[in-house]
Amino acid sequence: MSERTVRAPAKINLHLGVGAPREDGYHPLLTVYQAVGLHDDLTVREAETWSVEVEVPDWMGGIALPTVEDNIVTRAARLLARHHGIEPTGSVHVAKSIPVAGGMAGGSADAAAALVALDRLWGVDTSDEDLLRIAADLGSDVPFALVGGSALGTGRGELVEALTDTGTWWWVAVPSRDGLSTPAVYRHFDELHPDAPCDPPPADDLVAALAAGDPHALAAALHNDLQAPAIDLRPELGDLLDRGEAEGALRGLISGSGPTCVFLCESAEAARAVAGALSDDESHPVVLVANGAVAGAHLVTYG
Ligand code: C5P
Repeated sequence: MSERTVRAPAKINLHLGVGAPREDGYHPLLTVYQAVGLHDDLTVREAETWSVEVEVPDWMGGIALPTVEDNIVTRAARLLARHHGIEPTGSVHVAKSIPVAGGMAGGSADAAAALVALDRLWGVDTSDEDLLRIAADLGSDVPFALVGGSALGTGRGELVEALTDTGTWWWVAVPSRDGLSTPAVYRHFDELHPDAPCDPPPADDLVAALAAGDPHALAAALHNDLQAPAIDLRPELGDLLDRGEAEGALRGLISGSGPTCVFLCESAEAARAVAGALSDDESHPVVLVANGAVAGAHLVTYG
């Protein structure tokens, strides 16, 4: 039976600069994305009808997942099928490893993986340009999940341009038991920053640190405008960031709109040591180590 598995990565925003809301309600962003080695694997098989099954590892706990109708994978299938004037059919299995509702774009990774996998399964040969446009319709982070690596994101995050990155970056990621609503964090940003600029300023120091491959320079340049609003909504996240830095991380940062906290470390060894030190806390039972940058959504098995 014909089947394809596509692997898609989580992302971290190394820089997230947010401007005043636009007329469409979205916020203009200047962001630097990095794809890191935490992945969801999505497998598609030929079928007469459409189905989506999501497998969640025990460590994610009893999280509520969207129904087939609401799943972003179904939305991706519908948009791609409509573009080609065909009916969406297939049986999809998603094996999740990216923390859900954590600010690491797990849903966007699944959408990107679905586009790549279904394009092959249906043999429709979508152009890169069309795939990126459909991805942008699905969510602000979905084009980056296709592209991967390290990249500059502008617009509402959907306009993606690859950046030079000479480093191997080691991260510790600490997901939270409870998700945080992205729209709620953006709304709180608006309350805290009624005078936000229309165009968020450039991130030149961070872009230079990535090109130089220097973890200390990168640590000094990490920045997230959504960090203060996320910590205001969840003060314990601030304590966790302090703790990771006290345990030897070069810098702690909220990932995207949170609540996952990420810690940049000097080396693989340092990341394992920080992860070990943070592992004894029952309030966050899961501590992950990942490196970046890694590839965007790509085929891993084909049969
Ligand atoms: O584009 P996406 O579906 O990922 O966005 C989810 C929500 O995050 C939006 O409905 C909006 O509330 C907020 N958002 C925003 N500005 C952005 C990206 C997302 O306000 N640039």
